[in-house]
Amino acid sequence: MYNLAFVFQIVLLEQRTRTAKILEYLYRHVASSSIPKQLHCLALKLANEHSNNAAARLQLPSAELVPALVDNSYFHFVLASDNVLAASVVAASLVKNALRPEKFVLHIITDRKTYSPMQAWFSLHPLDPAIIEVKALHQFDWLSKGKVPVLEAMEKDQRVRSQFRGGSSAIVANNTEKPQVIAAKLQALSPKYNSLMNHIRIHLPELFPSLNKVVFLDDDIVIQTDLSPLWDIDMNGKVNGAVETCRGEDSFVMSKRFKSYLNFSHPLIAKNFDPNECAWAYGMNIFDLEAWRKTNISLTYYHWLEENFKSDLSLWQLGTLPPGLIAFYGHVHVIDPFWHMLGLGYQDNTTLADAETAGVIHFNGRAKPWLDIAFPQLRPLWAKYIDFSDKFIKGCHIRAS
Ligand SMILES: *[C@@H]1O[C@H](CO)[C@@H](O)[C@H](O)[C@H]1NC(C)=O
Ligand SMILES: *[C@@H]1O[C@H](CO)[C@@H](O)[C@H](O)[C@H]1NC(C)=O
Ligand SMILES: *[C@@H]1O[C@H](CO)[C@@H](O)[C@H](O)[C@H]1NC(C)=O
Ligand SMILES: *[C@@H]1O[C@H](CO)[C@@H](O)[C@H](O)[C@H]1NC(C)=O
Repeated sequence: MYNLAFVFQIVLLEQRTRTAKILEYLYRHVASSSIPKQLHCLALKLANEHSNNAAARLQLPSAELVPALVDNSYFHFVLASDNVLAASVVAASLVKNALRPEKFVLHIITDRKTYSPMQAWFSLHPLDPAIIEVKALHQFDWLSKGKVPVLEAMEKDQRVRSQFRGGSSAIVANNTEKPQVIAAKLQALSPKYNSLMNHIRIHLPELFPSLNKVVFLDDDIVIQTDLSPLWDIDMNGKVNGAVETCRGEDSFVMSKRFKSYLNFSHPLIAKNFDPNECAWAYGMNIFDLEAWRKTNISLTYYHWLEENFKSDLSLWQLGTLPPGLIAFYGHVHVIDPFWHMLGLGYQDNTTLADAETAGVIHFNGRAKPWLDIAFPQLRPLWAKYIDFSDKFIKGCHIRAS
């Protein structure tokens, strides 16, 4: 006969192991989404500088350079970020590799809380002769004018996510579900996937009404070449110049098709799309805003967000790429893989030598270069754009390795 206490012990132990497993998966996610204390420190120090030092509050750009912001003879880049260190690397790597930096304009979009640290950083670390604009979302006329679909969609997204599959307690309560699946479901509730910074790119035509063409950069990339030749690419009337992610030497990273992101068991997806259609990547995209304004891309985007809400997030669960794949369907011009090498944040079989040959490298995945979990052999490609003797960097113990 079994000793009842012993059985209880086993059950308890199993539950403990199970909980530990769920926590382990979640921890991996948390490790990549929470802000490390050095970055937090940097934001605080810069915000403090902003309040105490007039030189950290310069109008960016200075008044005489403002006309360049809407002048299509310049090369315009857009970076949306709430991470000052990451933005500083993108900006420095963009400008240092430019053949004619005086023709480069970098528009940095940030959120309300990051605005003063971001302005302080770029006031004190100018990248002349390139032109840097720092602007918070609430300072865009278009966003402060009346009804903004992106804000409404995000509110709704938050609501739907908090009730997703009965909410977090219901997800955890299911004892028959694999810990990995539970962790993934909990992850879908995370606000990280509902960030304005991520969704905002769908509004580039409205945010920059005078510009014809921009290159949109993610904050987890490093630029290693002059990017002005991107303006010479004939986009054949298409809107979005992007690298494909279904072909290429790296069979692990380059295996993404529509079926990797969208739920083809759902009739709405199965009826409208081809599961084997090649996917493409966000991170370094050329957007022809003139061509974009002639389409319904943004409307399509919101239409499908709405469909996904209506079906309890069963069309896709994570990220802004799935609705992007749908909205830009038929509007993508494939560019050479040289312009955007992916995967440096989720697999470590990319060699330093390989990565050095790419024009732009992208640390997409969990192992961001500013985190402890970054791949040590790849981190120097990012870290070389940081001045570790800088007083803010040093003061926050941000180190080369
Ligand atoms: C619990 O998970 C199992 C396995 O995936 C699933 O079949 C079942 O429907 C889930 N139960 C609830 C109440 O969600
Ligand atoms: C955009 O949508 C409107 C209204 O649904 C439609 O009349 C128009 O033809 C569409 N334009 C394009 C380019 O698809
Ligand atoms: C995919 O769609 C089917 C059909 O609607 C649904 O039963 C299933 O739960 C969906 N899968 C996910 C992961 O949401
Ligand atoms: C690269 O690494 C991943 C996991 O780290 C592995 O699954 C994949 O097979 C590797 N790819 C190649 C081409 O070795």
